[in-house]
Amino acid sequence: TLEIQENETGFVEVDGSIESEHSSYTGNGYANTLNYLGSYIEWVINVPSAGSYELQWRFANGGSANRAAEVLVNDSKQISDIDFSATGGWSSWSTTSLVSVNLQAGDNSIRLVAKTDDGLANIDWIEI
Ligand code: GCU
Repeated sequence: TLEIQENETGFVEVDGSIESEHSSYTGNGYANTLNYLGSYIEWVINVPSAGSYELQWRFANGGSANRAAEVLVNDSKQISDIDFSATGGWSSWSTTSLVSVNLQAGDNSIRLVAKTDDGLANIDWIEI
């Protein structure tokens, strides 16, 4: 697997900011999106061949409610619901379940979009 972090390929676009306030993240920081429905992070991921790939995120959710999200791949919704459940604190990190997406050969945009008014959980990395 290729691990994509903010200090390597990087977030292409964060509807919010990169922060390092809460500990135990990897690399240089994590993405903190704005707290509203539709807030997002987008990455570009390059793969050698078309096919099914598994994605996973590392996140912290110090709130009390799940911050569910959907995933758009190349602007098409491929995953309608991923849980980013409460982790007990903003410095307590967890990983999501694996989800499978279909990617094309070459570059793909992967956009994680908040489904609740809380925005996304804080996101440390995406892994493929
Ligand atoms: C707090 C916390 C942030 C987090 C935010 C949120 O402000 O410090 O890191 O992103 O809550 O609720 O999203």
